[in-house]
Formats: sequence, C-alpha cells, structure tokens
Amino acid sequence: MRRVTVIHGPNLNLLGRREVAVYGLTSLADIDAELARLGRELGLEVNAVQLSGEGEVVRALHEAWDSGAAGVLINPGALAHYSYAVRDALAALRAAGLPVVEVHLTNVHAREEFRRNLVTAPATSGQVTGFGPLSYYLGLRALAGLVGRE
Ligand code: DQA
Repeated sequence: MRRVTVIHGPNLNLLGRREVAVYGLTSLADIDAELARLGRELGLEVNAVQLSGEGEVVRALHEAWDSGAAGVLINPGALAHYSYAVRDALAALRAAGLPVVEVHLTNVHAREEFRRNLVTAPATSGQVTGFGPLSYYLGLRALAGLVGRE
C-alpha cells in the first residue's frame, strides 16, 4: 500500500472549537479518522500530523521525502499566506516527483484580503479550497489520482 503524509498546520488542532461559525464543528480527529478510512478505500496508508511551527512543517516535509512517502496532502493554515520556507520545501518535493495537494477548509478568496495570497499554491500540484472537511477528502482523492503519475 502506498503511503502518503498529511500535514495540518498551525491552529488546526483547534478545529471543532475554533471560530466555529467559520471553521465548523468537525474536529481534527474526525477529519483524520475519515482520511484514514478513505485512504484504505483508495489504497493509501495515511500518516497525519499536526504541527504549529514553520520549521516543524518544513522538517515534516523533508521527512516525508526521506521516508519515501508517495505524496503529500497539506493544509498549511496561515503559513500558506507568507511562508516562503514551506513553499520552497514543497517545490523541492515536487521537483523530486512527489505530488502535493494543498487544501483549505474555508474559501480563502472570499475572506480577508491577506488570505487571497497563497504563496505555497504555485509550488503544489493543485488546491482544493472552500468545502470544509470535504476539501481534505477531495484533496486525498486528487492525490490518489496523482500518486505514481507525476
Ligand atoms: C485555513 C485558512 C487560513 O487562512 C487560516 O489561517 C487557517 C485555516 C483553512 O483551512 O481554511 O488557519 O488554512
């Protein structure tokens, strides 16, 4: 079974109790459980991790590459808007042939102006944004389609 890494960035550990009018009531544990289930259906072993710091996210991306993961699904959280270090790490993985799918729960284009700029997005295979937890599930399906093909 192919192994993929799921990375949740800063503040996503608070899902279910964080600004519920914006992010909803689904917890990160619920999302991870569904990703694991869906992964089995798609023939993917899903390793999910939540990280609060930029350096931790960069390190986790390197580890995904070093450990032979077949692809990465990432919600960089706010790092998506300003982290060139995460962007560069994603670009390195992509150049090495790993597909990377970026997801956001909310429609970042319909919120504050600063959220419309996604510095990470150009370094990814594609993005799914605005569908709540479904963004993750659609993203995993996209990744399953890309794994082994890019
Ligand atoms: C988010 C959107 C980001 O702008 C925000 O900083 C987050 C969550 C999302 O999933 O909608 O933390 O990535």
